[in-house]
Amino acid sequence: MIDIHAHILPGVDDGAKNWEQTLQMARLAVEDGITLMVATPHLYKGRSIDITQLNTRETILQHVAQLKDKLYEEKIPLEILPGCDFPLSFESLKFLDDGQVLTINDANRYLLLELPDTALPPATEEICFYLQSKGITPIITHPERHMIIQEMPYKLKRLIDLGCLVQMTGNSLTGWFGRRVKKISRQFVKLGYIHLLATDTHDPKRRPPVLSEAVTELSRLVGEKRAQAMVNDIPQKIIDGEPCF
Ligand SMILES: [Fe+2]
Repeated sequence: MIDIHAHILPGVDDGAKNWEQTLQMARLAVEDGITLMVATPHLYKGRSIDITQLNTRETILQHVAQLKDKLYEEKIPLEILPGCDFPLSFESLKFLDDGQVLTINDANRYLLLELPDTALPPATEEICFYLQSKGITPIITHPERHMIIQEMPYKLKRLIDLGCLVQMTGNSLTGWFGRRVKKISRQFVKLGYIHLLATDTHDPKRRPPVLSEAVTELSRLVGEKRAQAMVNDIPQKIIDGEPCF
């Protein structure tokens, strides 16, 4: 399986705290059947928009190179590619225009787009449109955990109609985030709002890098073939910068 959303790089955001945790996460991912992971730190270390806390492309690429070396030394068969978890805000677009933001696999074709936790700004559609005008397809991350979209799923449908892709967190479907999120996740899957799964792992215990249990759930909802596509074929196309549909 392929995981395109993971906070596995150490000390760059609220994900892995150190290399020990990073390697623990890598081992768990491999045990679960994940063979390829895109390391996607938040654009800002402290998560709030603060240009002094920017995770530059150089920072991320250096950490990815270090991680690859460590995985090789430790004989952990996990492939790592670079990326970034980009917050939806006008301020952050400047860094994209300056070439400071890593799209998935640096292919300039897909970008993880994280909505603010408790708001859906009026500028959301405009920002999605702007990204698309640059040839970048936004991937809306885990809308099933977003308070406003939970209440108003048609707002997500609107973003899909505008050409966005949607990534669900695997563990939302297994009940990890509670019954409400699980129920909404099932609804979104049945409505066809979800294009792919990812772990959004942050640490080995509270937010581990696992997908297999979610794929089992997903298979019951949409069948084995479509479930597998959401953790293999579609993420692979995203990494390769190819159209998904
Ligand atoms: Fe994330």
